[in-house]
Amino acid sequence: MPQIIVLPHPELCPDGAVLEAKKGQSVLDVALANDIDVEHACEKVCACTTCHIIVREGFDSLSESDELEDDMLDKAWGLEMESRLGCQAIIQDEDLVVEIPKYSLNHAKENN
Ligand code: FES
Repeated sequence: MPQIIVLPHPELCPDGAVLEAKKGQSVLDVALANDIDVEHACEKVCACTTCHIIVREGFDSLSESDELEDDMLDKAWGLEMESRLGCQAIIQDEDLVVEIPKYSLNHAKENN
């Protein structure tokens, strides 16, 4: 079973985590199932950017993003080459290393 290593996030996952995943699950669903409360304002229908994640390792193993996801990602805070929407990133066979951005567009905190 693929593993997802979640890098430490100050609020959602201060110590980081290693999660067991199954092929076909989204990265967001695995995080939520493990009490890592990544935002998902549109309830996973690719209509927001709050589930934005950055895939530090294993990016190419994920299901490919479609045009709608790429359009949404363009609006995400802190967009990077390895950015995905967590609800649209479907896990295949490889392990992943995932970073949850410090901010999302719902909660941009300017003083941190
Ligand atoms: S939860 Fe809105 S795009 Fe993923």
